[in-house]
Amino acid sequence: MSSQNIYILGIESSCDDTAASVIHNGRILSNVVASQKIHEEYGGVVPELASRAHQQNIVPVVHQAIEKAGITKNQLHAIAFTRGPGLMGSLLVGTSFAKSLAYGLNIPLIDVNHMQGHILAHFIEEDGFEKPPFPFLAMTISGGHTQIVKVDNYFDMTVIGETIDDAVGEAFDKSGKILGLGYPAGPEIDRRAALGNPKAFKFTKPKVDGLKFSFSGFKTAVLYFIQREVKANPNFISENLNDICASIQYTIIGILIDKLKLATKETGINHIAIGGGVSANSGIRKALKDGEQKFGWKTYIPKFEFTTDNAAMIAIVGYLKYLEGDFAEQDIVASARLKI
Ligand code: KG4
Ligand code: ZN
Repeated sequence: MSSQNIYILGIESSCDDTAASVIHNGRILSNVVASQKIHEEYGGVVPELASRAHQQNIVPVVHQAIEKAGITKNQLHAIAFTRGPGLMGSLLVGTSFAKSLAYGLNIPLIDVNHMQGHILAHFIEEDGFEKPPFPFLAMTISGGHTQIVKVDNYFDMTVIGETIDDAVGEAFDKSGKILGLGYPAGPEIDRRAALGNPKAFKFTKPKVDGLKFSFSGFKTAVLYFIQREVKANPNFISENLNDICASIQYTIIGILIDKLKLATKETGINHIAIGGGVSANSGIRKALKDGEQKFGWKTYIPKFEFTTDNAAMIAIVGYLKYLEGDFAEQDIVASARLKI
């Protein structure tokens, strides 16, 4: 990339993770994330509590990111922040903090779209990780998003498929809640799925046209199935938990892979990159890798710390925008429904 010495601070606060990262040219020097445990008690993110926790976390998190990078704030060239999409109360904390810091240091401010961050995280310079060539397909799968995006260039992206209701992470988390698992349930379902039979129980896949996704019907199907079985055998869940988890995960992966197959067919693009918390799922990683043999795909899976919400992905977008001189004004506002 550039031979200049550019240091950018990235700040992410769109949901329930307060994060800050310093990037030097394309390489990450620090990547600090403060996850908010408080939401576990409620089985989901409570917006008011998230906003309050961001206010408490943001100063120490940014301080740590700069310190760990081994620089001082006066060496920064710009401040990049998540403008949206996300929870308004959460976004406001990062946005106002970034604005005042940039103003105080008299350096440019750079607004970043969180979804572009998940996708462009693949361009962080990281040994052993190959960058996808343009054009490629990006599938962003997390607790808040489920999209397939055609990426023609860094800032030339088109959403070609997305969910019409729940995100795929919610399908994991809500199914887990029905089974009595803690929040978020995705990682535990993943762990148990490895020990169970994926074909023990059959759940029908939702029928939605083209590249659209739908997961709300799936969650209801799991609920009715469990209610029916528990009526017949009150110990049904505990006696079959690994098989139930394996069957749920198998169905969800099937839904994602079917849509990816359709997307590669429609676009003629075989390079597939994934991002978002659900891309940590071992079954999905395996299904994508298997697709290389089966369907002729080439898949790109980022380092784990860059898949869940983080600020390194905001910093890399900040860096790419900095090189283009694409800066924000001080009157910019957060946008909860910002589109790609
Ligand atoms: O990207 P992320 O940290 O936050 C946002 O939602 O933006 O993603 C969190 C989601 C949760 O729904 C969580 O259950 C899911 O990612 N997740 C997983 C796994 N690890 C995290 N889902 C399935 N398998 C996993 N191993
Ligand atoms: Zn995210």
